[in-house]
Amino acid sequence: MKSNRNSGDPASNRKGGSPFWEKMKPKKTERSIPREKTTTPKKPIISAAPNPSKSQEKGWDQVAQWYESLVGDEGSDYHKHVIVPAVVKRLGDLSGKRVIDVCCGQGFLGKMLRHAGAAYIQGVDASPQLIAAARQRHIDDAKQRYMVADACQPGVWADASYDLAICLMAVHDVPDLRGLFHNIARALTPEGRVLLVFMHPCFRIPQHTHWGWDEEKQKQYRRVDRYGSEHTIHITTHPGRKNSQQTKFYHRPLPSYINALADAGLALSGCDELFTHRRSQVGPRSKAEHFAAEEFPMFLLWELRHCPGLQ
Ligand SMILES: C[S@@+](CC[C@H](N)C(=O)[O-])C[C@H]1O[C@@H](n2cnc3c(N)ncnc32)[C@H](O)[C@@H]1O
Repeated sequence: MKSNRNSGDPASNRKGGSPFWEKMKPKKTERSIPREKTTTPKKPIISAAPNPSKSQEKGWDQVAQWYESLVGDEGSDYHKHVIVPAVVKRLGDLSGKRVIDVCCGQGFLGKMLRHAGAAYIQGVDASPQLIAAARQRHIDDAKQRYMVADACQPGVWADASYDLAICLMAVHDVPDLRGLFHNIARALTPEGRVLLVFMHPCFRIPQHTHWGWDEEKQKQYRRVDRYGSEHTIHITTHPGRKNSQQTKFYHRPLPSYINALADAGLALSGCDELFTHRRSQVGPRSKAEHFAAEEFPMFLLWELRHCPGLQ
């Protein structure tokens, strides 16, 4: 069986430890999917916001400029085509509701949540630069507030007042999962809900999962080299570039997530597996590649209920 790392799947782990899901621009060889133009703010909005918390954690601050240019006002390609549509389906009626966006980055989700009727949005992120970008982005909206805080540490935001907590693409970026889930639970009202979206830990593990091509069966397969143990993966933001920044990705198998959630009093009430919207260019393998793209999910979406008696 031959490796096929250059298949059209943008989540394949390219040689050199390329960023896992952030390399979002379709490769030239892919059939292009109509994409919205990312609106870049007129003036640069990256500058540091003060960090009142004592924690030294700064999240993705060192890659803030790059992440801002990737996600901007509207979200990345995957946000727009896969993640946000799946979240919207599970939002329910947000009229008059208070929403907390945990690990909110530059707050691109705020606009969508306000359109969905949310009365108030609080964003929390450890990166002072991303929070400054979020504040600037929503400067005219008094119903959106953004705060620098380590979401794994107790904070004033975890005040039992939120109807919904959303945490997109971040649970694998924090070192202390239990701390994060406990604080999310503390932020919620007794009836509160949570929507989590994250890289599917069974099929999308940076540097340890790849596409492969089985010549005999004419099938594209997903190879998983490592899954069952928690481990930290160092991701180089710009492979090949000298002194490129790194972020850490904390891989955890499913029981680590489910047990940490139960420990925090959060019970799983719904699940979607989200698949890439991208397709490789037409060619001899494209049928098999498209089949594989529809069989191996990229992200997991979990809906959770706050069940304070669960612990
Ligand atoms: C992949 S980005 C996702 C951001 C945003 N939710 C989105 O979907 O674009 C991960 C985010 O988690 C934040 N983060 C990482 N560790 C954190 C921590 N301990 N506390 C708060 N935020 C953290 C980073 O600063 C970064 O903004």
